[in-house]
Amino acid sequence: MRRKRWVEAYSRSLETVAQASRSLKFIVGFNVNIDAVKHVCREDVERLMRHVSPSEVAKRIFNLPMKVDSLEDFLAGFFICVRDGVGGEWIITSSDVSRKLEKLLGWDEMRMGGQGGNMTNILARLGHRVIPNVPSLPSQQADLFYDENVVIPVPTDRGVTFKHPREATRPGDPLLIHWISEFKRGLSVSLGDLSFEAPRDNRFIATFDEVNARLQIAPGFWEGSILEAKEAVAAAVSGYHLLREKYLNGETCWDVAGRTTHLIREWRSVNPELTIHAEMGFTSSSEVRKAVLSLVFPHVDSVGVNETELHMFHSPTHTKPLSSYSAPELYLKARGLIEKYRLKRVFVHTREYSISIIKQSYGVHPEEEFMALLFGALLAATLADTGTPPTISKAREAMKLGRFEVSEDGIREHEKLASLLDSEGEANYKFFLEHGFVEGDPGVVFVPSMIAREIKATVGLGDTICSGALAGEQLLKSSGKG
Ligand code: GLC
Repeated sequence: MRRKRWVEAYSRSLETVAQASRSLKFIVGFNVNIDAVKHVCREDVERLMRHVSPSEVAKRIFNLPMKVDSLEDFLAGFFICVRDGVGGEWIITSSDVSRKLEKLLGWDEMRMGGQGGNMTNILARLGHRVIPNVPSLPSQQADLFYDENVVIPVPTDRGVTFKHPREATRPGDPLLIHWISEFKRGLSVSLGDLSFEAPRDNRFIATFDEVNARLQIAPGFWEGSILEAKEAVAAAVSGYHLLREKYLNGETCWDVAGRTTHLIREWRSVNPELTIHAEMGFTSSSEVRKAVLSLVFPHVDSVGVNETELHMFHSPTHTKPLSSYSAPELYLKARGLIEKYRLKRVFVHTREYSISIIKQSYGVHPEEEFMALLFGALLAATLADTGTPPTISKAREAMKLGRFEVSEDGIREHEKLASLLDSEGEANYKFFLEHGFVEGDPGVVFVPSMIAREIKATVGLGDTICSGALAGEQLLKSSGKG
């Protein structure tokens, strides 16, 4: 399919989903926080550099610490993301470093954060009723929710009631702030003889958050989500990348992950039809990756990853993060995951394109999945373009104004994947290129991204495409339109 046909397919997806639109119910767990977003420029880096030893930063670039114990570690993580144009998230181990970042870097804006928080707002803005787990709910956090369609379970003497975030605040709760350092393509920074230039816009996240690190279940959420599970169509779970290998009280990531799967099993027991999607994050620890693969994957239907996360979960013991954009390679790895863990769907989203592999048992036809992916990708492009949670009408408007272009790299990777599928006898080259999907068990769906010409946000794009696609699937599969 050439560019013009893709633009038409994108517009069609918007209208198809809009027509099928009605309010559904979703459960979202487990991580919600506040993102302090800083648009980092050269002067910010130079200011930070005055407080560190440059040779120590250089050392860490060659031997990545993968966590932040010091400002040197922070800068090493940031430089690597700039050099490779990739996103990353490292955990800050002491409040001291977090305070230094607050003082030396600061922020430009506070936004909703955490995949749970982001997915909640996307679904709620699309008109769905969402029941999120909000482990910490001071008023600053409550203000960031799209209040109208979001309901928080609140425990009372007479059982659980449901209130909008602003009526459910817990004023004594801590503020959970993650430091998001966004950078633009072309940002150039130097470190002694080394200099790096960002090949694309992206971000480095440094997180000090002891509450989400335990995937704490908010008061009332356990009982409340079980009550709502019967009428919900899907649940999206996330936050596992924040787990620690070991906690001060002696618990491990295995204990914490196991607690969440207990809850997932409770939802499933009241509603066997519930679709459960787990969205992964940048998971530095191989022990945590192993715990997630062993305890979470067997209890969910669908898993979402970007290209880096796919490599991480495909080869959980590898220590170096890999980032390849090759569609045949990502497809083969995703296929490995779906088979090994008996998943019903693996969804890979990259900046240039998305691939979904779906088993028939997932209950969504590949053609419906194709529409759902286009819809999700368009919402993500709209978020990148506007910097605020997208709506169908904003997406329509941005399309009309020509604010997006179809990824050329995505189109090229589509051709490569079509060749691979054809040579393996799984699809006809021409059919796959023309339709973007192929039936089968599993079926394969491919969509090149819509890229915003000017980018206002890079954080939360994965959460947007994944929750948009999840909503699209649920609307299209029950309406029979696709
Ligand atoms: C991770 C980060 C969070 C960010 C989110 C975006 O969960 O911890 O700060 O908002 O990713 O997907």
